[in-house]
Amino acid sequence: APAGERLLDIAQAEGQPLEGTCEGQMACSTCHVLVRAADLAKLPAPSPHEEDMLDFAWQPDPLRSRLTCQLRVTGDLDGLVVTMPERQI
Ligand code: FES
Repeated sequence: APAGERLLDIAQAEGQPLEGTCEGQMACSTCHVLVRAADLAKLPAPSPHEEDMLDFAWQPDPLRSRLTCQLRVTGDLDGLVVTMPERQI
């Protein structure tokens, strides 16, 4: 994946069914994923606004849930594994 691209855009380009209804404006939480526990240290901490929006996601995990519209590819994310929750909302 190209550096700087959002995980949401990459997943959608690959045909993954991540809605991203608000197109990254942090107003929907339909881009929610669960990060593999072993990869959590690779990611920057979520912003307070992202944490607030995750409260609206379906069964958010306090440690592993993230919004893919807020995650951009960097070299540090090499090998990152995320999974989609059973539902988005
Ligand atoms: Fe809406 Fe990420 S696309 S919060």
